[in-house]
Amino acid sequence: MKQIKVVGQKILSGNIEISGAKNSAVALLPAAILSDEVVIKNVPSISDVRALEDILSYLGADVYKEGNKLTINTKKVKNIQITEDFSNMLRASYYFMGSMLARFKEVQIAFPGGCKIGERPIDIHLAGFEKLGVKIKKEDNTYILKADKLIGSEITLPFPSVGATVNVLLAATKAEGKTIIRNAAKEPEIGNLIDFLISMGAKIKGRDTDTLEIEGVKKLTGGCVQVMADRIEAGTYILAGVMTGKDLKISNMNPNHLTSLINLLKEMGANIKVFDDYVIASKSEFLKPVSVTTEVYPGFPTDLQQPLTSFLILANGTSYIKENIYENRFQNVSYLKQMGADIEIDGDTLTINGPKELIGGVVTTSDLRAGAALILAALVAKGTTTIKEVKYVLRGYGNIVNKLTNVGGEIVLEDV
Ligand code: UD1
Repeated sequence: MKQIKVVGQKILSGNIEISGAKNSAVALLPAAILSDEVVIKNVPSISDVRALEDILSYLGADVYKEGNKLTINTKKVKNIQITEDFSNMLRASYYFMGSMLARFKEVQIAFPGGCKIGERPIDIHLAGFEKLGVKIKKEDNTYILKADKLIGSEITLPFPSVGATVNVLLAATKAEGKTIIRNAAKEPEIGNLIDFLISMGAKIKGRDTDTLEIEGVKKLTGGCVQVMADRIEAGTYILAGVMTGKDLKISNMNPNHLTSLINLLKEMGANIKVFDDYVIASKSEFLKPVSVTTEVYPGFPTDLQQPLTSFLILANGTSYIKENIYENRFQNVSYLKQMGADIEIDGDTLTINGPKELIGGVVTTSDLRAGAALILAALVAKGTTTIKEVKYVLRGYGNIVNKLTNVGGEIVLEDV
């Protein structure tokens, strides 16, 4: 088991460079299947990406790595079943549904894994595929999706699901005729994917809007993309800076993708300065409490809800967070309480009474962002905190130990 030990109350100062976005990379790698050879730059060094490289190799692709650049040749990719061993490695394995359908009009894949933060059904993805002419069968844990031909269609998503938007988009790129996806998700990672698909020759209109128009094409070829900066990683380190930084620079990021967080921090009186592609954050006294609701983009991201909870423990008064997207995303709370936080859970809402001093101890990570939240808490806690099961954190935060060590954090990764 991998665990992290953090000695708290160190001042973080220097520069943290943000890596490529996990949620972009995990859509871009499966999208490689649509073309013959693609180049993906600025790929983050995280275990979710390594899992996708394994799935691509299993399917027959040649994956060449050169620093942060991947060249993926998919000419020898075969239509073989993606078994549970592979699909279970990560949630985004289900993007092979869309990409394999586009390539072979058929895919067999076991139900995806991923963080247990709620039910996470895939009914919206499947309904979208059906509209494109796909027949769906489920045998035990395996979905068998097959179409005689993919036919463009008008699809209105009942909820702007990120995953469903990506999956339907992937399949529609090679459908016959035009597909319109209404109520599509507008998360910037989808824009990154659209740029990649267009670079292969796909015909897509409506980037960054909730209506996507895809004119299917027969063949896609080539393709090159730079993975956008990870807005959730950036947001997490900005919070670290406001909690315990001295001019901590968070660079190589796009503040426009984090407007909801930045506005909230300004409203609280946090000491942050925002520039074109970096933010400087310093420890802030007298933070005002706030009420926050998680929303789809550009609202406050659910992926920053747990890190924000650790931060609001330091605010002067009672803050509220309503989690609107997932039904089980509070698994960090009991550990934060163990460390000294005063937090109540009432249905989908947290009441956080601050400020409270946190004390180090032994805590366990249940999912990716819960782990990030516990690391933030440990950075300001008195004494040492041991955080177990950090494999979840390593899924999405590349080089987190080095990044924090380089700016003065005292943090080690141990294999026990
Ligand atoms: C993506 C992100 C994840 C982020 C989430 C919300 C990736 C790889 N992951 O996840 O980090 O937390 O967006 O911003 O990009 N739902 C259904 N049926 C469906 C699909 C979704 O009921 O078919 C529900 C989910 O259970 C959840 C909500 O819709 O409650 C949001 O899900 P969705 O936007 O699809 O998130 P993901 O794509 O799984």
